[in-house]
Amino acid sequence: MEEDYFVALEEKDLKDGTMKFVSVEGEPILLIKQAGKIFAIDNRCPHMGCGFSGGTLDGMCLICPCHDWCFNLETGEYKEEPSMKLKKYDWKIKDGTIWIKLDE
Ligand code: FES
Repeated sequence: MEEDYFVALEEKDLKDGTMKFVSVEGEPILLIKQAGKIFAIDNRCPHMGCGFSGGTLDGMCLICPCHDWCFNLETGEYKEEPSMKLKKYDWKIKDGTIWIKLDE
């Protein structure tokens, strides 16, 4: 529903090949644009909670700064342990702004 979406960032402020940390309704969210695709994920690593915003991008791999685990942006999976997954958020673009859908 429309009211589940919250403003996150102007679309023009998310350049390709970069990531931006935003706090949406108190939720730590990392926005990533890679190869023209946008991803919105929980900034906390599912391993031990480190902030991905201090990490790096290597193609479709998001590398956690704490233990260098590589998470695939498209599948969300850590390749050595696929049950360990990124939490992804739905998003939409409206009037040049990226909106994030929060669970509740
Ligand atoms: S906390 Fe991210 S890999 Fe360990």
